[in-house]
Amino acid sequence: MTALNTSARVAVIGAGAMGAGIAQVAAQAGHPVLLLDNRPGAAAQAIEGIGRQLGKRVDSGKLSVDARNATLANLQAVEAIEALADCDLIIEAIVENLEVKRTLFRQLEGICGEHCILASNTSSLSITSIAAQLERPQRLLGLHFFNPAPVMALVEIVSGLASDPALAECLYDTAKAWGKKPVHTRSTPGFIVNRVARPFYAESLRMLQEGAADCPTLDALMREAGGFAMGAFELTDLIGHDVNYAVTCSVFDAYYQDTRFLPSLIQKELVDGGRLGRKSGHGFYSYAEGAVRPQPAEINSAASVNVCIAEGNLGAAQALLSRLSEQGVEVIQRDGQGLLRVGDAVLALSDGRMACQRAKEDGLRNLILLDLAFDYSKAQRIAISYAAGIDPQALDQGVALLQRAGFKVSLLSDSPALAVLRTVAMLANEAADALLQGVASAADIDLAMRAGVNYPQGPLAWADAIGLAHVLKVLENLQAGYGEERYRPSLLLRRRVAEGRTFHD
Ligand code: NAI
Repeated sequence: MTALNTSARVAVIGAGAMGAGIAQVAAQAGHPVLLLDNRPGAAAQAIEGIGRQLGKRVDSGKLSVDARNATLANLQAVEAIEALADCDLIIEAIVENLEVKRTLFRQLEGICGEHCILASNTSSLSITSIAAQLERPQRLLGLHFFNPAPVMALVEIVSGLASDPALAECLYDTAKAWGKKPVHTRSTPGFIVNRVARPFYAESLRMLQEGAADCPTLDALMREAGGFAMGAFELTDLIGHDVNYAVTCSVFDAYYQDTRFLPSLIQKELVDGGRLGRKSGHGFYSYAEGAVRPQPAEINSAASVNVCIAEGNLGAAQALLSRLSEQGVEVIQRDGQGLLRVGDAVLALSDGRMACQRAKEDGLRNLILLDLAFDYSKAQRIAISYAAGIDPQALDQGVALLQRAGFKVSLLSDSPALAVLRTVAMLANEAADALLQGVASAADIDLAMRAGVNYPQGPLAWADAIGLAHVLKVLENLQAGYGEERYRPSLLLRRRVAEGRTFHD
């Protein structure tokens, strides 16, 4: 089945933030669009709002007057549900309540033709459950846009137990024709993005709780080493802690309290205290007038280093060596176990053990652990940790080497898998389980995380790039270190390592 023709009549119910955005997207694509809301006048007001938004784009030269007029001419506010009788696609974006949505769809079945496709923009309710009491449950699917709908490219096409696969293809092609990046997903809690993204927040919150570093340092590491657009604290301040905490709790409960999704007491306290983030003027950071954003912590060294010894392959951190050479550091290569020696210090990419453990188990004095960077050749910052009792001079030499390469160096307490490595390993682990459980394909999971939450790379492709054996070792060490189920590696990750395959082959 191909995309709906632009002559197909689309209706959007719910003229709030999402409904208005979705109506705009469909109208821009050329469909006649009816907008309905149960608050009198709300649909007309929403269309006026769209007109103002488009007007600003015309003023700034980003949109032609003709394009704006064509979009607005396609939009019509209606006040009665009966006006939707001859629609071909109806997208619901009303209040997030199962019974209210079920009632609405039952009512629509009585009004619309049998050919009409029904879609819900729900982000947390089961499509199977919404469709359960319908006469034609096969015609209901999820069409999950991201906020703001006209800007965010991702659309999750969600199939419930009864959904017709041909309609999923039709909505996929239609979303593509609307300029979006659609992905297919089964109706499971959180779909792709709201499930796979949970560790991004959870691991930073846990590191904060354990005193690994403060918020600005962890945020800066996620941005400047991890390549993420924002760190978890600044991002949840933007999303709103009430919203983010509610999603976490809903996914946690939906997976029968699997500790992988355990909500954070730190975030709960913010919600309890009304510190909801930007919208309330205070979250992890203050947004009061004149508030100064605290700076990330850095560790500096005045030592001078000109030579280092690379023993074996540094794994994902290997690109560090060319960066050092480019900065004029002589890199002597030898066989060995993936260590970088400078003066009395030994540096190595974390394998998920704490520095104190690894130093003892591997007999390494003055061990400095390195965190993961998305791209070691470009990252501006890197996290390190070390075991108590390190020789201060050796620490100075290790830090100096990283500074010679151009990194700002942030120190974490001796935490397993540091910050970026731990987060990416857990994201990949969740993505692997979603893949194992048939929620979506590897390509769609990666695309969803890039287009829906702007990750620099899909978590599965990222794990492939790090090396699946290393990711597995990191998770095993996290699980052993914490003694917690939360860090149990996905069966699929183990299988792929044993088979010598990646997630994408
Ligand atoms: P909103 O509160 O901004 O808008 C909801 C609109 O629906 C309101 O204008 C309300 O008057 C109207 N409404 C409520 N019950 C109705 C009914 N029975 N019939 C007709 N109109 C009704 O909510 P928002 O944020 O636009 O969310 C709508 C849906 O989209 C929810 O299911 C939500 O979970 C989902 N969603 C929200 C996202 C977000 O970031 N806000 C992102 C993706 C999905």
